[in-house]
Amino acid sequence: MTQYAWWQTGVIYQIYPRSFMDGNNDGVGDLNGITQRLDYLQWLGVDAIWLSPIYPSPMADFGYDISNYTDIEPLFGNLEDFDRLLEQAHQRGMKCILDFVPCHSSDQHPWFREARSSQDNPKRDWYIWRDPAPDGGVPNNWLSNFGGTAWQYDEQTQQYYLHMFDARQPDLNWRNPEVRNAMLDAMRFWLERGVDGFRVDVIWMMVKDMQFRDNPLRLDWKPGDSNESIQIGVYTEDQPEVHEIIRGMRALVDGYAGDRVLIGEIYLEAEKLVTYYGPQLDEVHMPFNFQFITMESWSAETIRSCVDAYEAMLPTGAWPNWVLGNHDRPRIATRIGCDQIRIAQMLLLTLRGTPTCYYGDELGMENVVVPVEMINDPPGKKNPLFSRDPERTPMQWDASPNAGFSAAGIQPWLPIAQDYQQQNIEVEQQDPHSYLALVRALLSLRHDIPALSIGTYTAVLDVPEGCFAFLREHEEQRLLVVLNCSGPDLELTLPRLGQGHILLATSLDREGKVELSALQLPANEGYIIEL
Ligand code: GLC
Repeated sequence: MTQYAWWQTGVIYQIYPRSFMDGNNDGVGDLNGITQRLDYLQWLGVDAIWLSPIYPSPMADFGYDISNYTDIEPLFGNLEDFDRLLEQAHQRGMKCILDFVPCHSSDQHPWFREARSSQDNPKRDWYIWRDPAPDGGVPNNWLSNFGGTAWQYDEQTQQYYLHMFDARQPDLNWRNPEVRNAMLDAMRFWLERGVDGFRVDVIWMMVKDMQFRDNPLRLDWKPGDSNESIQIGVYTEDQPEVHEIIRGMRALVDGYAGDRVLIGEIYLEAEKLVTYYGPQLDEVHMPFNFQFITMESWSAETIRSCVDAYEAMLPTGAWPNWVLGNHDRPRIATRIGCDQIRIAQMLLLTLRGTPTCYYGDELGMENVVVPVEMINDPPGKKNPLFSRDPERTPMQWDASPNAGFSAAGIQPWLPIAQDYQQQNIEVEQQDPHSYLALVRALLSLRHDIPALSIGTYTAVLDVPEGCFAFLREHEEQRLLVVLNCSGPDLELTLPRLGQGHILLATSLDREGKVELSALQLPANEGYIIEL
């Protein structure tokens, strides 16, 4: 019998540590706060937590600018707090994945401080430096994902350094073997401490063109489109050399017992994305699949075609995965609207492939309006339209002041949703029909029913427009998932499937036998039916 790893059968839950739970009442979430809330996560039924960066950082990009890869940011706690969190998670049968950010460091990292001290400093080549163009301007047309040129001039040494994000996040030079070794050492440090794997930040952008050629412009770009889409990153991302570097990371991770996992953050079209599994499945275990986050319209037809195309493209033996939300994109409830979020959650938790959930999405949290003068996020400071603060607001635990995130009287680092007194964990835990109750029921079914975690996937095509239906099968088990992704009520006519009974309905108020020859599927409703 095939053995499945925990990251194949389990569900990952992303925690944005600044916003999950403020254990020491300074307005910013921390590690002890997370530890306090592990019982909740166990109750919810997730199998692994992924922590956005917790390393020392000047917080120019809220932890994605690391100034020491092998310690804990004091705002979040210390190594002892981390060890306790890890131990407590493990005691509850939960894995813990760290965010690793190898593409760039903070400009306050000692490596960069040394590198910028002189052109002949031994660390100079750890970063990417270029002379000014003959006219004194930037070396080429590369743009930062946060807007503007990707080059920052350094007065003292009279060269430009590259930063594909904020100017305080200089890109490391992954062509330098010393950089590779230093990063692998940092990963070793955490693996030896017992972490269960890494989510590797912007892994597809670690290597850049050696000739520094200009990127072509996207002719259909219009103001309001994202900064990163002004250019096609032909020379700044997805370079062939990156694959060998990832294989090195994978070999390291595989050298540790206990199924440690390597997940890559990659925004690329599916054809390119799947190449990151590696020719021998020897690169990342899972390149994050963001199709549900990036797709332009939410309809049964677009969802089905994206699932089917991805399933067809997966290399033999590669394990799929699906992501519905993260700290960089508007929340799912805001993207698709409240009518469809139950459907989205049923979709995520019944498809073949590891689901990743973003904290607060299990409540139906929406983006919170953050007044312009309170914007923290660096791209948001350049253009409020691109601020990621709205999807990073504090978790809504209960109806007490500050939603139970920080004590009363403390000002949390971002505002709390105005409706938190109605929409919070405590309230939804008491309501058997709440959105949270649905998410928990889905998680529990996914655990109990192998067809949902490891079964095969087959789309059912003879359904009316607006409906996405598929089968999940394992040994004798056969489940049909039907999702009404549209407004009108629908009738499904699937006589060949005979009878079944509803295991779970998104409304949580329908169960029992159904005839598949004439199945009524109300608007915005989904069923998991056992055949
Ligand atoms: C990734 C992170 C994002 C960060 C960027 C730069 O995309 O998810 O939050 O700003 O990398 O590190």
